[in-house]
Amino acid sequence: MKIQVDIVVVEEDEVAPEQKDEMLQLQIACFADQVTAEEVEEDFNRPPVARVLAYHKGALIACAEVFKREVDYDEQAIILGGFSPCTREDLRGQGIGTLVCKAAMNYLEGQGCDIAFLSVDTERESHPLYERLGFKMLSKPFIYANIRGERRESEGGMIAPLCSQQLFERVLRGNAQFALTPEPGYW
Ligand SMILES: CC(C)(COP(=O)(O)OP(=O)(O)OC[C@H]1O[C@@H](n2cnc3c(N)ncnc32)[C@H](O)[C@@H]1OP(=O)(O)O)[C@@H](O)C(=O)NCCC(=O)NCCS
Repeated sequence: MKIQVDIVVVEEDEVAPEQKDEMLQLQIACFADQVTAEEVEEDFNRPPVARVLAYHKGALIACAEVFKREVDYDEQAIILGGFSPCTREDLRGQGIGTLVCKAAMNYLEGQGCDIAFLSVDTERESHPLYERLGFKMLSKPFIYANIRGERRESEGGMIAPLCSQQLFERVLRGNAQFALTPEPGYW
């Protein structure tokens, strides 16, 4: 990496208002062409449990909201973690997103999460960033509930092992569809 990056993970109740503002500005710049405001409202789960903040010379250059919830798979309780990384456009491709994802995964592992889940853009041919971190694509669409509790399905679910390789294998190879319910939304 060519530039100095300082990464901090902050619990949600300790995030300062100015950190929230700075992060929101970066997220709007990074995600505006990827998701509509309607999708955010309908399908995304808030609030996060923590945030990863990456700084260069005091400026926020990358970040991730970090999520945690409990789900069931095939009558087995699973503690699920997730995160939504973004890097300032002019600084992409230097490994900063990878550092942010690793910090989120370390945090989630420390919180006892069994596996990590991400929803990725299926129009991309491959997802090298996530594959290098151990994520594998689910073979079937995942199930979630929107904010009105209506059942929805989506392609592009990827999972990685955190505390449990066994649960990771079970979900990856199982016949049942993976569901993020009962909590609404995903990330
Ligand atoms: C995804 C993102 C955070 C990567 O940040 P970054 O700092 O460039 O990450 P790194 O330098 O560590 O890794 C770059 C790799 O990620 C890949 N990548 C870029 N966008 C990606 C995406 N949406 N999904 C998966 N991989 C992606 C690049 O192809 C590159 O692969 P390569 O190293 O084999 O060439 C950044 O592209 C971004 O902010 N995108 C817009 C927001 C977004 O889509 N976030 C992901 C939500 S799931």
